[in-house]
Amino acid sequence: MTVVTVGASSTGTAARSPRRWARHESGRIAHARPSAMSCSNCVWSRTGGPGPSGYAPSKTFLNAVTVQYAEELHDTNILINAACPGFTATGLNGFRGVRSPEQGAAIAIRLATLPDDGPTGGFFDDAGVVPW
Ligand SMILES: NC(=O)c1ccc[n+]([C@@H]2O[C@H](COP(=O)([O-])OP(=O)(O)OC[C@H]3O[C@@H](n4cnc5c(N)ncnc54)[C@H](OP(=O)(O)O)[C@@H]3O)[C@@H](O)[C@H]2O)c1
Repeated sequence: MTVVTVGASSTGTAARSPRRWARHESGRIAHARPSAMSCSNCVWSRTGGPGPSGYAPSKTFLNAVTVQYAEELHDTNILINAACPGFTATGLNGFRGVRSPEQGAAIAIRLATLPDDGPTGGFFDDAGVVPW
């Protein structure tokens, strides 16, 4: 089973117990989040991003969910990672993003099709690993 949770991450993944995922033979989960929302830089308004006040905390929560679930599922064939699509032209930002939706989706697709020995509990963009 392949799962890509991009839009409603919290309803797709975070609301479920990770052990419920473990009933599946395999799975891939990619949480979408901006690179500016890394743990070391979690106050986005300081870095020039748009600033609904709930956005940064929601993505910080997603960081924690990604790492925690990866830990809890380490003995399964389910890989869970976070993906940064880059500043992508979508309804979220009034289509001001500089990347196309196809470009933005590429990293989520890559993480959704990882081989069984692929990484888990990480944060990635097109260039590779992004520091938490
Ligand atoms: N765009 C960027 O530059 C960028 C950068 C970094 C991270 N991200 C992340 O990427 C993800 C997708 O963003 P986007 O740019 O594609 O935004 P978007 O164009 O606004 O799309 C959001 C999608 O989520 C769906 N959605 C919203 N609330 C939902 C709910 N309660 N239940 C089910 N579906 C729901 C929407 O469905 P409807 O169309 O039916 O409303 C829509 O398809 C977000 O988590 C965002 O934070 C985006």
